[in-house]
Amino acid sequence: MQKAIGIFDSGIGGLTVLKELAAALPLENTIYLGDTARVPYGIRSAETVTRYSFENTQFLLAQEIKMLIVACNTASAISLDAVKKEFPLPVIGVLEPGARAAAAATRTRKIGIIGTEATIGSGAYERAIRKLDPDIEVFSKACPLFVPLAEEGWTENDVAVLVAERYLASFRTSGIDTLVLGCTHYPLLKKVIGKAVGPDITLIDSATETAKEVASVLDKLKWQRPGGGPAVRKYFVTDTPTRFENLGKLFLGDTLLTAEQVKVGGA
Ligand code: DGL
Repeated sequence: MQKAIGIFDSGIGGLTVLKELAAALPLENTIYLGDTARVPYGIRSAETVTRYSFENTQFLLAQEIKMLIVACNTASAISLDAVKKEFPLPVIGVLEPGARAAAAATRTRKIGIIGTEATIGSGAYERAIRKLDPDIEVFSKACPLFVPLAEEGWTENDVAVLVAERYLASFRTSGIDTLVLGCTHYPLLKKVIGKAVGPDITLIDSATETAKEVASVLDKLKWQRPGGGPAVRKYFVTDTPTRFENLGKLFLGDTLLTAEQVKVGGA
């Protein structure tokens, strides 16, 4: 099927998912919507995040997509079921693939989850992991400062190291052997997060796991794009594109990235 895969995030972070998707499925056309006018979602109410998710989905559906990826942990944690119920297309979130990979990786049956305040507050990761194995113990921590650090490109400097150490110190003594990076921005801070928790803890990147899930769903439906030229990647944002384009080029190593500003819902 030639139609594109639609992806939305609250802003730039979902590009970590797009990057993995492009690596796993290089022929698939993609349409990315970054809701940059309304980021961050991680501090908002469930009602607001759900409304934003519906509006983003409506925008992408109007672009004729074949499948939707909710590439935002906060939106996945809070609104995935509602989006699935409301819209008639396959919808994949980033939370369940990450939870599955974590449950498969842990040996101590103790898993750490880090994410935004809304994601951690929702308890959605904990529920998803417990559904897979009720005996797994989950240790959660909101790490809100990681998002602005990633947005600022401060992913490896001394400030990032200090913040990571402060947030993650308790994981060192918790007995976890697996830590889920439950926010789209966190894979950018993988190095400092890995250093702060120590080498014995496996980091689970939801972006990689989500790309695998998309590949498997496309395969089952026989909806892969068969070829016919290189993939077309379109980018839309709800605020001025410059910042998104500059950071996006860094995220993706794609020097040709240009984004179009659009109006979505009230944004
Ligand atoms: N995309 C969000 C997430 O994965 C992080 C940024 C935000 O708070 O909007 O949870």
